[in-house]
Amino acid sequence: MTSTNTNTDYDFIVIGTGIAGLSFALQACKHGKVAVFTKREALQSNTAWAQGGIACVTAADDTFESHVADTLDAGAGLCDKSVVRTIVSEGPARIQDLVQRGVDFDANADGTPNLGREGGHSERRVLHSGDTTGREIATKLLEAAIEEPGISIYEHHFVVDLITTGKLGQASEDRVIGLYVLDSKRGTVETFRSDRVVLSTGGCGRVYLYTTNPNVATGDGVAMAWRAGAVISNMEFIQFHPTCLYHPEVKNFLITEALRGEGAVLIGADGKPFMKKYDPRESLAPRDIVARAIDREIKKTGSQCVYLDVTHQSRAFLEERFPNIYATCAQLGIDIASEPIPVVPAAHYQCGGVKTTIDGATSIRGLYAIGEVACTGLHGANRLASNSLLEGVVLAQRACDHVLQKLPVDMAGRESLVLPQWESGDVQDVDELVVIYHNWDEIRRLMWDYVSIVRTSKRLQRAATRLGNLKHEVQEFYWNFKITTDLLELRNLVDTAALIVDAAAARKESRGAHYTLDYPESDTSSEAAPSIMRRY
Ligand code: SIN
Repeated sequence: MTSTNTNTDYDFIVIGTGIAGLSFALQACKHGKVAVFTKREALQSNTAWAQGGIACVTAADDTFESHVADTLDAGAGLCDKSVVRTIVSEGPARIQDLVQRGVDFDANADGTPNLGREGGHSERRVLHSGDTTGREIATKLLEAAIEEPGISIYEHHFVVDLITTGKLGQASEDRVIGLYVLDSKRGTVETFRSDRVVLSTGGCGRVYLYTTNPNVATGDGVAMAWRAGAVISNMEFIQFHPTCLYHPEVKNFLITEALRGEGAVLIGADGKPFMKKYDPRESLAPRDIVARAIDREIKKTGSQCVYLDVTHQSRAFLEERFPNIYATCAQLGIDIASEPIPVVPAAHYQCGGVKTTIDGATSIRGLYAIGEVACTGLHGANRLASNSLLEGVVLAQRACDHVLQKLPVDMAGRESLVLPQWESGDVQDVDELVVIYHNWDEIRRLMWDYVSIVRTSKRLQRAATRLGNLKHEVQEFYWNFKITTDLLELRNLVDTAALIVDAAAARKESRGAHYTLDYPESDTSSEAAPSIMRRY
């Protein structure tokens, strides 16, 4: 396959169409031409699936100090305090931006925001739009982006790899200069040129067999940044959401934590609440604690799942406050007003990612990462519920301000950048496609079996060996075969899975979302440090 080599130039390139990417594009288009790439349709993003909402201090009796303290507590010693303070305190202004874009958060009769509560928050502070907050935000931002003449949205365009001077051996300073993009409808790879590239590709939940994430969450941003030589941090901290619906047909439907905020209680198959044994905050303890407790109960009792009981609430309340969960469960034959909901933990959020500054700048000049793909230091070892949409919208603004200040739009400079032609194999062999699907399945299963809520050094070692073999196979496909979306996702999955395993194996303690039976305590002998990985 050869490149059509259009060398299309943009002042800004954004990869991903969640809250972070679209918010950035809407700012940047005031200063130059923006391309936004998304590998499928623009509304397929982790943002669009967010149920709970966006945590922000808006209530008169809430304080930044309280939100900061809750975030630090959940982060188990690994948050960057100044990053937490900045993001929390810039939140209210960004919420106003969203409201001005038409985002409709639920309000009380007196016009004040109707605030939800989630695990780890000591106050009600989660703005929401029913239980489909992410869909509301993503839709409104996308509508605004479509209206902007300065933004070109490329759906079904999958970014294969970043082009950097470092990789080409062209300059002493490593900077991003463009990217190769698969147009999956036409089956061609095009070369785009830009020296301001923003990764906002979301997370990697699909690395695991069971996840609350949509199919698109395959770790693309982390994998391509890693291949380009960017610094990656804290990938061992994969957050498992305690309550994913347990159902034979529907595998990735989230049951929002906001239900527990409204008093829902976790109970075992025997109908008895069990969280008191694990944490005084019971069902509203931080997620890592609740997910591990459920894992323990399931293993101890041999049951397939536990249950979430919200039957103390009226039907009318549940229908109004949680319309999506109410209706989806009803379609599956579960009446949440009269019976407990079967739930299991599932991979939910990547707390680490591409290491950035508080302005979203990565270790490669011109390359920014914002949203779930980034590791700013906000989440530490375990993200506080509903802090992620907040981080996405705050970082989008900060990254835009930063890039304009540090890399003013300079067409003349960019025109001198020489981008090499794309080249890869041309073989198309349908039989081999089956192998791709097998590999995909194998990765997700081995990550679930060996690298999930409770880990051991031995299991991590096994996972590393198997992933090493899979990596070789995938590389072989990549160089010899015509690339497809499936193959690219498989390549990103295997690279991301390996980063998680390597980071987990290197952490000789338990902390936040990383728990290992071989080192069950946190290491208090030295200051807690984030993990850092770099390819070269
Ligand atoms: C939820 O609604 O429980 C998920 C919210 C989040 O992950 O922040």
